[in-house]
Amino acid sequence: MKIVVVGTGYVGLPHGAICSEYGHTVYAYDINQERIDAYNSGDRQQIEQQINEPGLVPIIQEQLNRNLFFTTDISDVIEGTEVIFMCLNTPPRRDGSTDLTYYTNAANHIAELLAARKEQTRVVLVNKSTVPVGTARYLEGILKQHGVENAGVASNPEFLAQGKAVEGSRSPDRVVVGADTEEDLGILRKLYAAYVNHVRIRYIETTPETAECIKYLGNTLLLTYISFWNGIGARMAESHDNIRMEDLKVGVTADSRISTWGSYVSNGAGGSCFGKDIQSLIYQLKSSGNQAHLLEAVFDINEYQKTYLFDRAGYEAGFNFNNKSVALLGLAFKKRTNDMRDSASLKAVQALLAKGVKEIRAYDPLAMHEATRYFDPEDNHLYDRIVYCESERDALQGSDACYLSTDWEEFRTLSADIRASVDAPYLIIDGRRMLPDYMALVQDGYDYLPVGGQFLSINETKAYKPKNPLPKTSSLIGR
Ligand code: UDX
Repeated sequence: MKIVVVGTGYVGLPHGAICSEYGHTVYAYDINQERIDAYNSGDRQQIEQQINEPGLVPIIQEQLNRNLFFTTDISDVIEGTEVIFMCLNTPPRRDGSTDLTYYTNAANHIAELLAARKEQTRVVLVNKSTVPVGTARYLEGILKQHGVENAGVASNPEFLAQGKAVEGSRSPDRVVVGADTEEDLGILRKLYAAYVNHVRIRYIETTPETAECIKYLGNTLLLTYISFWNGIGARMAESHDNIRMEDLKVGVTADSRISTWGSYVSNGAGGSCFGKDIQSLIYQLKSSGNQAHLLEAVFDINEYQKTYLFDRAGYEAGFNFNNKSVALLGLAFKKRTNDMRDSASLKAVQALLAKGVKEIRAYDPLAMHEATRYFDPEDNHLYDRIVYCESERDALQGSDACYLSTDWEEFRTLSADIRASVDAPYLIIDGRRMLPDYMALVQDGYDYLPVGGQFLSINETKAYKPKNPLPKTSSLIGR
């Protein structure tokens, strides 16, 4: 099938690439010339500087100019196109509502092109990025305004998690398609032939509004799980003697009705979706006259989690950040991505600067280049205090404390780097519960402050002494 993908960001690029792999002819369109040039170069480094997804570059290199074409001009490829995927950036406004400016501009442009088609092949415009309930209907209105004929609208939300876009696209849990007519459902069935009647993949056909709502409820329920564990589980383990976080979560989630996903306590969930989607759903509920207390609490817990460890460092460990050097380990919102949208590290930097640190020694395996875009000293002269480091050890060098922010696998062996780089006493703030041998560090005089656990130190003045000491090898290993 001939398809067009509008917008080549984290949603559009993997989706377009996978569709081309399934044999469709894909025209991926973006107004950003730099992006399109990078993709057309076929060069790994240039592509990954735009979007870094494991396994994506080889597909682009293989399909480029065969089934996959990148362009900033779709005016002459729209003829004969059967499906147009809208994969545009829909940022949140301050009040939580969704800014549909990019979306509307693109929709109007496409509607003009569709209205001028010579042959009126049936075309379905499909919303792939997350848009408020009612946006498919709004799109239908734009098509009508332009007098577009023989076109339908659909919602086919993207459920992919970053870092797993390729494997998730090849083998999704479910494909949700919301459309109004059997004809349009049939066109999407043809497109997704590999998934229809699949033994494991749920292929769900419904109305556009239901599909839109499925995406919001799915994402906010996932964030609710995370906030439950961060706001309730972690708090209990931090404020009571002898609660072992890992045993707690295994015990609770052993019930097959309860998800294990979401029980990894952390310094808050980031990424482009969760924060934006929950704010949008709160807005949608309230603007239809409903309360949204549950979701407001979920959102607040998640935001609080992004900086509360710095406060604990003050009142539990007696650490004063003023004029100190802090190693910030991890900048991306999670491992295996260079994406920093809504990352806990963004709030960490603000909190540390507000507490008067002398320098922040930052290191991330993938997101260093990305970070320079967020921390431009021309926007805030205090960003001069950020030192970009080449490795964990480089970041730890000369620091007074470290803050582990992203769950990169390589940080599991951070203890060795700490021992090699800084002498005890030294404060380790672990936002991810990543150090399996933390008790050995504590015994050697390092102070350890983790999410989901009490502050540990052998220093008598600040010491917390567990009544029954924690085992040397904790069940953190292999979690
Ligand atoms: C999420 C949804 O998972 C996906 O279905 C949706 O399409 C987009 O939003 P993504 O943002 O890529 O995907 O990341 P995800 O892996 O879900 O993690 C989100 C954040 O939650 C990360 O910061 C992660 O570190 C954190 N997290 C996740 C936890 O803190 N604890 C957990 O148990 C799981």
